[in-house]
Parts: sequence; C-alpha cells; structure tokens
Amino acid sequence: MKLIKKGAEGDLYLTTWNKQKSILKVRKKKAYRNPLLDEKIRRQRTIKEAQIIVEAKSFGVDTPLIYLVDIKSCSIVMQHIEGTLVRDLSDSKLVRCCNKIGYIVGTLHKNGIMHGDLTTSNFILSKNKLVTIDFGLANKTSKPEDHAIDLRLLKEILGSAHVYIMKKTWASFLSGYKAIVGPTRLAQVTNLVSVIESRGRYATVV
Ligand SMILES: Nc1ncnc2c1ncn2[C@@H]1O[C@H](COP(=O)(O)OP(=O)(O)O)[C@@H](O)[C@H]1O
Ligand SMILES: [Mg+2]
Repeated sequence: MKLIKKGAEGDLYLTTWNKQKSILKVRKKKAYRNPLLDEKIRRQRTIKEAQIIVEAKSFGVDTPLIYLVDIKSCSIVMQHIEGTLVRDLSDSKLVRCCNKIGYIVGTLHKNGIMHGDLTTSNFILSKNKLVTIDFGLANKTSKPEDHAIDLRLLKEILGSAHVYIMKKTWASFLSGYKAIVGPTRLAQVTNLVSVIESRGRYATVV
C-alpha cells in the first residue's frame, strides 16, 4: 500500500481490491476532539461521503465506484480513476473542462447536493469522461446561498491557480452551469456570489 496524500481530513493510499487498483481513504483520529465525539464525527462523515458518491451516479454524475465502506475504521475503498487532474491540463483543455464542470456542478445543485470543495484537483479527466472525486465536505442542500459558496470557491481557485485564463474558464463554467440550472437560477446564485465577494472586500478593508 502506498501513501499518496496526507490530507487534513484523511489519508489516501493506493492499494488493490479484488485485483483492481484502488484508493483507500481513511479518516484519522483527531487528538484535539473528545474521543467519543471524534469517532461519531468520523463515522458520520465516512458514511455521508460514500452515500453522496453513490447518489451522484444516480443522476448521471461520474464518480468512483465504491468497493467497501468500513464504519469501524472510518475508511472507504473506491475505484482508482486513471487520468489527469484537471489542475494539470493545458490551458485549452482546462477551458473545455470548465464547461463540463459547469454541467456537473449544475446537475449536483439541481439534485440538492453541494460539493463543498470545488477545486481543479477534485476532477479527473479519464479518457473522455470527467470524474468528480472528494465528496468529503459535500452536503445535501438546495439553498442558493450554499450553492453560491460552491461557485465562489471554484472562482477563487480559477483566479489564483489559473490566473491567465480565469476569464475564459469562468465564462465556460457559467455557460455549462446555466445550461442545467437555467438563467433565473444562474442569476440568483451569481448575485449571491457577488454578495459574498463584497463581504470579503469589506473584511479586508477593516
Ligand atoms: N478515486 C481516485 N482515483 C484516482 N485518484 C484519486 C482518487 N481519489 C483521490 N485521488 C487523488 O488523491 C488526491 C486527494 O484525494 P481527495 O479525495 O481529493 O482528498 P483530500 O480531501 O485530501 O483533498 C486527489 O486530488 C487525487 O489526486
Ligand atoms: Mg481533494
């Protein structure tokens, strides 16, 4: 088993499951939490992540297959997705992918799911499919305010990590998102993004 990432929430290992290359995601104990509460939180988050990964498939969002959920050890074994992280794509491919990300996020939102961590490291371009991963911070919510938080984070990532093409990627994302949620909902959510951004600006002035 090879450790591929030590994250804030959990550790990721490359492993094999029934001879298939797989990913093991384990939520570690947090020493600063009360042990009973810590176990409860880790178990709930493990269950929720696995449930949402599976649910997303039911409305056509590609996610890894879940092979095993072990509540006791707070771990999930899932399909390893072969491909390239959207973060590492060339500029022109990134712009095209952002349109697909718009469709994906629109579909998740329309079905009452907020991803919670929309970064370009949480999408893998695999053959010609775009697979969404890392639902560790996902939540069931249809509130436009929550959906605006998703959009705001993605916009921030595009503006910092992919600054030269931010305008293009953002426009490409919005056109995909609009195709799914419709113009009225798009306007509502993007207005809320502006509200969050203006709050951010005040916060830095004070
Ligand atoms: N199913 C998967 N297939 C292939 N790579 C994965 C998979 N899940 C995670 N990874 C890789 O591990 C990294 C971290 O996993 P992720 O679930 O996003 O955890 P974190 O909460 O630490 O961001 C991803 O950015 C990706 O490179
Ligand atoms: Mg991640």
